[in-house]
Amino acid sequence: MTSFNLLLLPGDGIGPEIMTEAKRVLDWAAAEYGVTFNVSEDLIGGCAYEKYGVPLADETLAKAKASDAVVMGSVGGPQWDGKVAYDKRPEAGLLKLRKELDVFANLRSAICFDALADASSLKRDLVAGLDILFVRELSSGVYFGNPRGIEDLPEGGRVGINTQRYTDKEIIRVARVAFEMARKRGSRVASADKANVMESGVLWREEVTKLRDAEYPDVALEHVLADNCAMQLVRAPKQYDIILTDNLFGDILSDAAAMLTGSLGMLPSASLGDGGPGLYEPVHGSAPDIAGKGVANPIAMILSMAMALRYSLGLGEAADRIEKAVDGALNAGFRTGDIMSGGMTRVGTTGMGDAILAELQKN
Ligand code: NAD
Ligand code: IPM
Ligand code: MN
Repeated sequence: MTSFNLLLLPGDGIGPEIMTEAKRVLDWAAAEYGVTFNVSEDLIGGCAYEKYGVPLADETLAKAKASDAVVMGSVGGPQWDGKVAYDKRPEAGLLKLRKELDVFANLRSAICFDALADASSLKRDLVAGLDILFVRELSSGVYFGNPRGIEDLPEGGRVGINTQRYTDKEIIRVARVAFEMARKRGSRVASADKANVMESGVLWREEVTKLRDAEYPDVALEHVLADNCAMQLVRAPKQYDIILTDNLFGDILSDAAAMLTGSLGMLPSASLGDGGPGLYEPVHGSAPDIAGKGVANPIAMILSMAMALRYSLGLGEAADRIEKAVDGALNAGFRTGDIMSGGMTRVGTTGMGDAILAELQKN
């Protein structure tokens, strides 16, 4: 019997609540496809800091590296903001995990399910049928560049420093992922940078263009300045198929795109490297404002689990069926608070899990 090693890291805030629903979907896949998941659970983020004194323990990292896939909830919360050493904050654990797994390509899929076309903050005809794939560089750029820090200035006062740094190899490897994905989709890539302001953006543009010309002449490539891209995303988002961009711009643009789909609670992600375990997590955070209330939308988490099945475990059909079940639950009128609208059935986190499981049992 096929078996896989999975590490689940529910994390902080709504993380454990939404992970509970994703585990039910995993159990469905195990039974339906006759595979065994050796599931191990551990701590990351603030909860890990409370128990181990660090947001990502060495043992947890070792387990992650030995897994076929790592599925994470979310980290962070006000109880740690500004109250723990900066290198021990919950988010530092997540950044270390991404860096150590070397998952440099973060796929963030912004799909507007038909049933939610009216839940977006934009008009229905602008978002109906929307399907954008962000390919966000995840393990370099200003998030990781040196020098960094806060220093006293000799003339008095202080300075905060971060460095945007990209090597040609880092740009090429993530661009390659975007072009490969493009061949499976609409054969179009828009690459977003700030080549008008930053040398790292100039290099980004040159390397992306060179790779396209040399190896992917069949893929249409457009360069767009990141600020214009933000504007275009709210003006006419369906012009985009794949958006390739760096770590920081990708973070910001994907949150904006999330709202086009109805809610941040809808966006899953897959972070892939060169052959090692993939890391799967929703795009949203720990939502401290609704944590512990049982109202969080578990769909981004469940769709992230589906991406793990597809990209790390070779269970693409199970992933397709989970995505279809989410569509079915939405079509049947079930809504968590973040996507609620008149005439629909309001459910909590577990209720949405129930609705998706019911759809899975149907087919
Ligand atoms: P957030 O994404 O946690 O929340 C933003 C808003 O979206 C909130 O109103 C929240 O209630 C809502 N929201 C998010 N997910 C939802 C869901 N599944 N269902 C319903 N509503 C949802 O962003 P924030 O408030 O800026 O950050 C909170 C904490 O999360 C911070 O500590 C931040 O660093 C952390 N964070 C973690 C991750 C991660 O773990 N990958 C990602 C982003 C933010
Ligand atoms: C995300 C988050 C993270 C990021 C934080 C929590 C480190 O916002 O995954 O989008 O900035 O990458
Ligand atoms: Mn983010």
